[in-house]
Order: sequence, then C-alpha cells, then structure tokens
Amino acid sequence: MKEQDFSEWIDRLKSRIGIVDLVGSYVRLDRKGSRYWACCPFHHEKTPSFTVDEQRNMFYCYGCHVGGDVIRFVMDIENVDFMNACKMLAQRAGMEMPEFKSRGKGGESLAKKKERLYGMTVEAARFYRACFESDEGKVAREYLAGRGISPATAKAFGLGYSPGYRQLVAKLKSLGYLEIEMIEAGLVDQKDGEVYDAMAGRLIVPIIDGMKRVIAFGGRVLVKDKLPKYKNTRDTVLFDKSNELFGQDTVKKLRMKQAVNDLIVVEGYMDVISLYQAGIKNAVASMGTALTQKQAAILKRYCDKVYICYDGDAAGKKATVRGLDILYSQGLDVRVVSLPEGLDPDEYVRKYGAEGYVAELAKAKPLFEFKLCDLAQKFDMTVADDRGKYVVEAVEILRQLKNPAQIDAYIPLVSSLSGLSAETVRRQLMSGGDFAATAEVKRVPSGRKNGIYYKAMRFVLYALCGGVPGLKFDRDISLYVEDPDHARIYDEIRNSGSEMTLDDLSAEAKTNPEATPILEEGRKVSEDVAKEYFADCVDKLAALYAKKERKALLDSFRSETDEEERQAILARLEMTKRN
Ligand code: UTP
Ligand code: MN
Repeated sequence: MKEQDFSEWIDRLKSRIGIVDLVGSYVRLDRKGSRYWACCPFHHEKTPSFTVDEQRNMFYCYGCHVGGDVIRFVMDIENVDFMNACKMLAQRAGMEMPEFKSRGKGGESLAKKKERLYGMTVEAARFYRACFESDEGKVAREYLAGRGISPATAKAFGLGYSPGYRQLVAKLKSLGYLEIEMIEAGLVDQKDGEVYDAMAGRLIVPIIDGMKRVIAFGGRVLVKDKLPKYKNTRDTVLFDKSNELFGQDTVKKLRMKQAVNDLIVVEGYMDVISLYQAGIKNAVASMGTALTQKQAAILKRYCDKVYICYDGDAAGKKATVRGLDILYSQGLDVRVVSLPEGLDPDEYVRKYGAEGYVAELAKAKPLFEFKLCDLAQKFDMTVADDRGKYVVEAVEILRQLKNPAQIDAYIPLVSSLSGLSAETVRRQLMSGGDFAATAEVKRVPSGRKNGIYYKAMRFVLYALCGGVPGLKFDRDISLYVEDPDHARIYDEIRNSGSEMTLDDLSAEAKTNPEATPILEEGRKVSEDVAKEYFADCVDKLAALYAKKERKALLDSFRSETDEEERQAILARLEMTKRN
C-alpha cells in the first residue's frame, strides 16, 4: 500500500470515530459550553483539567500537556503502538484494516493465521483453567494455597493446571484445531510422531500481552526439586520471550483506575502474582532474561520511572547491568532495589508484607549510585592499588552520564567509597580525552545563527531561566535542542529543577558564547506578551523538528526495501504529521 492511500484510510478512520464517544467510554465526561471535561486519565488529579473538543475531534490535558486525536488517545490509554491503535479503532468503526502485502512473503495469510492461533491459545487457557477448578486440579490448588496464593488471585491471573499429556490435544481437536497449529503455537511437543502437552502435571501461568491475547504459557512443577522448575512456551509467531513482559495486562487494568507513576520489574511470574495479592499491582516480570530495547520501550510507554527488583545479587550481574543501561538510554529513571537476606520479592512480601516492601522501594538506589556501589564491592579499599583501580573504573561509569552536572553530583560518592579525594576523582575524569565529547549533545544546528530556529530557541531558554515570571512549563524539549552551547544551558536548567536564573546565565557569558545572545533575545520581547510568545516559540521548534524528522523518515522510506520496515516508517510518518 502506498503512503498516500494509507493517509486517506487514516483520515476516513478518524472521521468515523467521535472523540466524545471514544473518550466517554473510558472516563466520565462533563459538558461545559462547547467542551467536555474530565479528570485526566494520564496523570493523577482531583479537579478536571482534561478536555475534549468535539468539533476538532481532539483532546488535551492542561495539567500534563498530553493531547492529540483519537489515535493518540487509544495509543496512550491502551498503551499500544500506532498500528495497533488503528486496529482497535478500525474494529470500533467496523472498518477493515488495509493490507500490507509483503511481496511474495504471504503477509496477509500470516495475519489470518495468527488470528486463528490466538483463538486457539485462548481456548487452551480456558481448558487449563477449567482443569484447575475441577477435581483433577486439587493438587494445583493445594500447591498455591501452600504458597499463600488465594483463589481470587489465581482467578485474576487465569492460573490453570495441565492434567496430563493428552487432554489438551483432545480438547483442541474437538474444537477443530489441527495438530500442526498446536505445534506452531508451541502448545505441544512431539515424540515418535505424536504430539503431547509438555506442560503435563504443571501449574499453568498464561502469558497475556498488552492486547489481552494469550501468547504463551509458563508451567511450574508442583513437586519440589523436579527439573526444570519452569517450562515456557518456546518462541513462536505469537511469542518472543525477550520482547514481552509478564503482567502487562494487570498493569493496564490498574491504569484504568489510577495513575501509574512507576513500574516494578521483577524476575519471576510468582513475584508478580504475589505482589499483586499484597496490593502492589504495578509489577511486571522480565521472565528471567536480560532486558531488551523493546521491553524498555514498553515500560517507557507506561511511565518514566522503573524499579528493578531482582533476586539476591542478580542485579549486579553483567547481563543485567546491560539491561539497566538500555532502560536508562530510553530516558527512564532507573532505581535498583536490593532485598535483604537474599529474598525474592515473593518471599519478601510474604515475610514482611506490603508495607515492608514499599519501604524497600523507598530505599532503592538510582542506577548510577547502584553501579558505583556495586563496583566498589569488587575492590578492597584498604589496599592503595585497589583504590586507584576503583576510581579509574568508576570514572568510566560516570562518563556514561548524559551531562557534566550529573557527573559532578556523583564525585563525592566515588570519593567516599574509594577514600580518595574529590580532587583526585575530578583529575581522573579530566584525563580522559573524549570527556567533553561525551558530555555534550552531538547534533547539527539547523539554520544560521540569526535564523528563525536560533531566535525561537534563545527565547525559550531565556524564559526557562526565569526570564518570563510565572511561567509554568515542565515538558522535556531536549529533542529540539541542537546547538551544544544551548544543550549545556538546557541541561543546567533541568538539573537545577528550573531554579536557574538570568543571573546564573549572565555569569556564564565568559564560557558560553550563547549566553549573551539569549539574554538579548529575551529583552526584545515585552512582558505582557511573553507567555504567548513563549508558546509560539515552542510550537515553532516542534514544527521545525517535525519537519526534519519527516524528511529523514521519507528518505529512509524511499530507500527501505523490507515491507515490514516500510510499514513501521509509514506509521511514524503519520505520527509526525499529526503534531
Ligand atoms: P525464579 O526461579 O526466580 O522464579 O525464576 P520464581 O518466580 O521465584 O519461582 P518460584 O515459583 O518462586 O520458585 C525467574 C523466572 O525465570 C524463568 C521464569 O520465567 C521464572 O518466573 N525461569 C526460571 C524459567 O524459565 N525456567 C526455570 O527453570 C526457572
Ligand atoms: Mn520465587
């Protein structure tokens, strides 16, 4: 399908969905004049600042500044990507999704096949669940009771039981599914040409994705010391273990009731389930693997802050730290929780309750503090040589931080952990040749220094340094910042928690060539229009950025040959247009 056709399809879809109707099915809307109001579903508030504009078919929240069209709304509230939001809306509007034919790869039939497999996995989950509730399931119920899991919790997660090798196969066959489909969905294994349920005799944990589809199962042995403890559905067309998080479905349900400001990432299914029962419902499990980009992207769509709560010393392992770096690079605020006594979250919460657990969360270390402390444990600081080695490695860690102010903030910690002076740590930092390069945002400034970009950006920075009194603005605009001198100022503003003043800015004139032009730009604008002018500047910057992004996307769209990639690029193109 061509870009233009897809655009037209999107327009048709949007014209068929009324925003009032759509939003109204999630939150209670109150009409006032020409607009509708509600408490924002995307942030916590007591008085409504979320509005719906029927005429423009758009929504906007004055509190958290999110807004957009019907597709944006579904993406945010359902936490799905662009294509899936379209799919959900198309269903609502009774429209067919356009077909993206992979040339010769049978893309169309793959989608159909997957639909059928999803139908089968749900049936499998229902079957396991029914077995759990039946006489045969007594062993599983007793096992769970022994772990303190209530029937209600078991129900909430759809926990089941596999009674044997043959039953699931027979059930699915009676529903018209073929053995080959069971194999394809990873529900069965094969031996001597016969298929059988590999989960036989196990407690079944269905893995449900963000679209409420059953994509796989985890099966736990009920007998102590039998191996392997867990069997999981292998990777299939429906399931890519390293790109899913267990518990998304419950987090989504929670989000319908309250704002979710942070998520807890644990290792195991039972950790999520046990925390849930204790009332801590914002946990997901990485299912024992190191975190991936895709998982990080999922987390980031829910919130900006993530607690990592792994078993014992697992958090310090190399693979894990790489996973944490991925989260950090996605812009997540990463905190590492270390539970005492080598307990996992399930064991901890059963022993010390939700209150104890929440207290441990409060003690969580920010990622870099965790890394520095973890590294320190590998050295014996009573030995001079070790102290030096530690500082060398610690400085390497600090260099991963995005800006100099953040690096500075950690110097005292490295100093106190190593017992060497802050001055020594600083000198080590300076000795690395590419220090300045890593600390600065590398981007090519667009336009000349007297051009429209510079004019707008300078005024925005002026305003954020307190140049426009009473201005409230906490959106992250770092994407728009292109000039490294601007980047340094913008970082300072963010790090100071918006406490940076014009005096601070003037003080930088000697070291930062942009400080004076920024002050001059600010003085040109009279105070009574400053707020409006500021908003215009931000819009302008956003538009310039969108234009650049669009151009880059179009370029890559033209050169891309893989149909799936092309589809992804189209989706992003659509997004940029709608801003
Ligand atoms: P854990 O052994 O920490 O899980 O493994 P757990 O939830 O604490 O297990 P129990 O029931 O309380 O003893 C963490 C995760 O690693 C994967 C599973 O996803 C598990 O939830 N795992 C673990 C496997 O896939 N296979 C295994 O044999 C063990
Ligand atoms: Mn456990």
